[in-house]
Amino acid sequence: MTNTPQNAPGQEWNASDYAQNANFVPKLGSEVVKLLAPQPGERILDLGCGDGSLTERLMQLGANVLGVDASEEMVNAARQRGITARVVDGHQLPFDHEFDAVFSNAALHWMLDPQAVLAGVKRALKPGGRFVAEFGGHGNVAAICTALIAALQFRGISARGRHPWYFPTPHEYGHLLETVGFKVESIELIPRPTPLPTGMIGWLETFASPFLHGLDEDVRDAVLENTLTLLGHSLRDEQGNWTADYVRLRVSART
Ligand code: BEZ
Repeated sequence: MTNTPQNAPGQEWNASDYAQNANFVPKLGSEVVKLLAPQPGERILDLGCGDGSLTERLMQLGANVLGVDASEEMVNAARQRGITARVVDGHQLPFDHEFDAVFSNAALHWMLDPQAVLAGVKRALKPGGRFVAEFGGHGNVAAICTALIAALQFRGISARGRHPWYFPTPHEYGHLLETVGFKVESIELIPRPTPLPTGMIGWLETFASPFLHGLDEDVRDAVLENTLTLLGHSLRDEQGNWTADYVRLRVSART
C-alpha cells in the first residue's frame, strides 16, 4: 500500500508503525474486495500490497496472488505472512498479459504518474481482465493537507513540492482509464470519515513525512503542533477522538 521512488520524498515505511497506526486500512477494504469478487484459482496482482494484510484475504478466498510494493520493508512484512511478494515500482510494472485481475487498495494515491501506472496495469492483464481499485479521491484528507500547508506557511516554509498525493475526480480518472484503453464499469467518490485509533499524531507520523521532509526537529515539532491545533477544531470530538476526512475513489474497469 505504499510507493516511494519518484513519488514522495521523505516518506519512509515502517511495518510496525503501520500496523499500529493504520491497521484500519485493510479492515476497511471489504467493499473493494467484494467488488473484485476473486474466484478460486484466479491469478491476481495486488498492486501496492503493503504488509500484505488484504493480499492474505484474497489468498484465503482461493486466489493465486502476487503482491508488489515499492517498499522493501513492507514486502518483507508481507513475505512473513507467507505471501509471494516482490519489490516493484508501480510505475514500471514488468508483467505481460498474465493476470486475470489487478487489485489495489489505498496505494494508487502515492503514485504520481497515473498514466504510466495504468499502462502497466493494462499490460499486466489478460485480454478481458479486470482492474479493481480503491484509493484517495478528490477532496481526500483536504482538511489535513490544508492544516499542514498553513502550519508550514506560518513558519515561512513553502509547501511547494511537499504535497505527495494524487487524488483525482471520477471524471478525471475515468477519462484517463479510457485513454489507456479500459472500459469503465463503475467509478464513484465515497466520503468515508475514518476514526483514527492512535489519533491524528499517529496518522501524521505514519503518512505525512513528505510535508516535513528536511526540517530541523524543533521546526518539525512546531509544525506538527500547529497542525494539530488547527485540525482539532474540525476533526476532534469532545472526548478527544480523532477522525480523518477520507474520501475514497472506488473503480472497476475492464480491458
Ligand atoms: C488514504 O488512504 O487515503 C491516504 C493514506 C495516507 C496518506 C494519504 C491518503
